[in-house]
Amino acid sequence: MVNEYEIKKQICDIGKRIYDKGMVASNDGNISVKIGENEFLCTPTGVSKGFMTPDYICKVDGDGKVISATGNFRPSSEIKMHMRVYKQRPDVKAVVHAHPLYATSFAIAGVPLTAPIMPEAVIALGCVPIADYGTPSTEEIPDAVEKYLQHFDAVLLANHGALSFSDSLLSAYHKMESVEFYAQLLYQSKQLGGPKELSKEQVKRLYEVRRAFGMTGKHPADICLNAKAGVQSCHNCHQGVEEGGCSSSCSDAELIAQITKKVMESLGK
Ligand code: 13P
Repeated sequence: MVNEYEIKKQICDIGKRIYDKGMVASNDGNISVKIGENEFLCTPTGVSKGFMTPDYICKVDGDGKVISATGNFRPSSEIKMHMRVYKQRPDVKAVVHAHPLYATSFAIAGVPLTAPIMPEAVIALGCVPIADYGTPSTEEIPDAVEKYLQHFDAVLLANHGALSFSDSLLSAYHKMESVEFYAQLLYQSKQLGGPKELSKEQVKRLYEVRRAFGMTGKHPADICLNAKAGVQSCHNCHQGVEEGGCSSSCSDAELIAQITKKVMESLGK
């Protein structure tokens, strides 16, 4: 049985962390946690996420409609974005949206985080694509993000910020931290003459490490058995998802079909 009060406290803790770490300014950012099939806790709109107490936290249903909220608190204006993630990804139990400095700079410059530059980022995140710009609070952002949800656990939002999601609140937060650290490293190594990227072989071995760890979530190492299927991965192609093997058309079913075709071909059938 979920202890709602404890989860509200955890949301406040994570809110304080993203604020203290400078991942959100002023009243920016939002956090949600799935507590039942059709019940979610979320941060209220228009408050600093660094100074919340459990009574701030709202409870909503799967359409983002208020189930309970204290006083004048109302759910985040971005609740539709959170709900789209939960709808498309039944494995996800928590969503974090923030505006971390470096990751948001990449999102503004239109540069996806696809360069394989350090083992931890390759293992934890794979690549981080950029979803097209959408007006906050409308269906535009959920619509733009949707095509990436089956393939990634973190997405940059063009000219806006970053979104991460996972099977626990701490893990969703950690993914946001990893995105920002990765973006910062990429930015700073670019100042030092450009990163020396890991080779395809090194990336492949890191994917194998990730598989061996049995890590949860969506990742090129899990979803696109690129090497086996003879299809490029987004790390290998370095072009982001549109031109690589992890495009929105790269569904599990398609991959299985591709792999089956290869196997049949190799058997001469
Ligand atoms: P809310 O306070 O409504 O959650 O909005 C903050 C934000 O960052 C919107 O992108």
